Amino acid sequence: MIYFDNAATTWPKPPEVLEQIARSFTDYGANPGRGAYKMAMDTSRLIYKTRETIASFFGVADCRNIVFTRNTTESVNMAIKGIINPGDHILYSSLEHNAIWRPVKALEKIGVTSDSFTVNQQGKVDFADLEAKIKPNTKLIACLHGSNVLGAVLDIAAIGAVAKKHHLYFLVDAAQTAGALPIYPEKIGIDLLAFPGHKGLYGPMGIGGLYVRDGILLNPLQEGGTGSNSLEAAQPDMMPDRLESGTVNTPGIAGLAAGIQFLNAISLEEVLRHEQMLTKYLYEELSYIPNVTIYGPDVCDHRLPVVSFNIMGKDSNEVGWTLGNDYDICVRAGYHCAPLAHKTMGTLEQGAVRISFGVYNQPWEVEKCIAAIKKIAQ
Ligand code: ALA
Repeated sequence: MIYFDNAATTWPKPPEVLEQIARSFTDYGANPGRGAYKMAMDTSRLIYKTRETIASFFGVADCRNIVFTRNTTESVNMAIKGIINPGDHILYSSLEHNAIWRPVKALEKIGVTSDSFTVNQQGKVDFADLEAKIKPNTKLIACLHGSNVLGAVLDIAAIGAVAKKHHLYFLVDAAQTAGALPIYPEKIGIDLLAFPGHKGLYGPMGIGGLYVRDGILLNPLQEGGTGSNSLEAAQPDMMPDRLESGTVNTPGIAGLAAGIQFLNAISLEEVLRHEQMLTKYLYEELSYIPNVTIYGPDVCDHRLPVVSFNIMGKDSNEVGWTLGNDYDICVRAGYHCAPLAHKTMGTLEQGAVRISFGVYNQPWEVEKCIAAIKKIAQ
């Protein structure tokens, strides 16, 4: 099997991730932060150390500002619903995934309004459009860092500067870029950074996180037991307890710690170099095949390891199914939960076939995939 669906979740996971997950059931099997006996303390230490590992990975000074969640979607919801009130206005980009678009739209029923600002297929932000759409009641700019369909990367430092100039909160969805590109929220004025554990950070599914800038007091999505201030009816203000009610996902957190250590040992630069080499190879070969349209940035140095394409007249789901069924090549076709990106690409009818690479992919796999696409396109 050739696995080219790493933008959905990376596979396989490194052996040390699997090992750590197993240890979370044997050595770290107690409820962290709830008991004073050895295994509970060991488990608490594992959670704390992982928080520190994540903070250091993102250059965050205080690890208490990292909150564990189930996934990027939960982090985004926690961030948006934690600061937005009736009457507020939100700006989001024209490439958004449903992780941002749907919660923003759902807030319309409590009197929140929103607009999208234009970003083209190359990931180029129309800053005049962004500035023009800021209103007196705009409170938040929420956008993805990299498109899961186009592979295009947005200039989040420049968007952050606009947010800062207008005293707006800035939320970044790093679903596709955490572990792919360096991100230092405290350097570039990101107030809230949502990230997954199971994609570029090589942890398991079911674990993600949210960075919250010092001083932002989000209204929690849920209240409950935190193992702290237990006699009080009110949810504690202190972080991360304020946003982490209930038992955390220790197996997920253990696996995520090992995933980040795996990545750090190779280095982000090396991972990017390897994946860009595969991306360039695929992009160039695809561009020679008649009837194939490739979407997104034409300069592969400015693209995530994601290539979406169509074969003229063919349904993208049918092509994706053929690659899987006849060639044992796993890709994702259709709309990728990102109708806004597909609208920008002009593929609302056809969808697209997406190939996305991870650290374990090899050039011979790309070669086989190109041969398969050539046959399907004939
Ligand atoms: N958002 C993920 C993807 O792009 C699941 O496939």
